Amino acid sequence: MEDLSLHILDIVENSVAAEADKIEIRIIEDKKKDLLSVEVLDNGAGMDNETVKKVLDPFYTSKTVRRFGLGLPLLSEAAKAANGQLSIKSKKGEGTKVKADFQHSHIDRKPLGDIGQTIVTLVLGSPEIDLIYVHIKNDHKYSFDTRKLKTQLMGVPINSPAGIRMIKEDLKKGRK
Ligand SMILES: Nc1ncnc2c1ncn2[C@@H]1O[C@H](COP(=O)(O)OP(=O)(O)OP(=O)(O)O)[C@@H](O)[C@H]1O
Ligand SMILES: [Mg+2]
Repeated sequence: MEDLSLHILDIVENSVAAEADKIEIRIIEDKKKDLLSVEVLDNGAGMDNETVKKVLDPFYTSKTVRRFGLGLPLLSEAAKAANGQLSIKSKKGEGTKVKADFQHSHIDRKPLGDIGQTIVTLVLGSPEIDLIYVHIKNDHKYSFDTRKLKTQLMGVPINSPAGIRMIKEDLKKGRK
């Protein structure tokens, strides 16, 4: 996998599978600390401690169609390759927080890639989920919230062409 945005898509798919109705993606870039951190928080089914211990094992999955799950192990590998690490906090019935830290300047740190495309893909696939995306880059903060956009759309579906156009317009502000 090339870009972190594709890893993020994968991690958020886990939250969707865990029936979260609110998912937050938080990206923090801190040049002073030479740190890039990517967090995905959800209010889905959560995991007990035993499961959390097992999920970094590529042969663990709760899926029945395939016998291994690679989303979390691959992100963990990507973090380790850039002098970082993956941490998972989860509580059964409450939700999950997955956090990947990277050394920002590390030569093997994967590029963030097209987060906007990841957001659009997620909204098209799961328009009913409240999706929040916060990107803090040094002193600059951008936040995106489908709840806010849904209010502005006044009943027009967020996954309609008009909705997607509005998402893309909003995301442009975050690129500055
Ligand atoms: N946010 C989450 N909430 C609840 N359970 C989770 C969450 N993320 C991961 N899990 C559990 O961890 C398992 C492993 O996740 P992982 O993404 O590594 O593989 P997978 O989703 O099973 O397969 P793949 O990602 O390769 O399609 C999942 O099957 C699920 O049981
Ligand atoms: Mg997965």
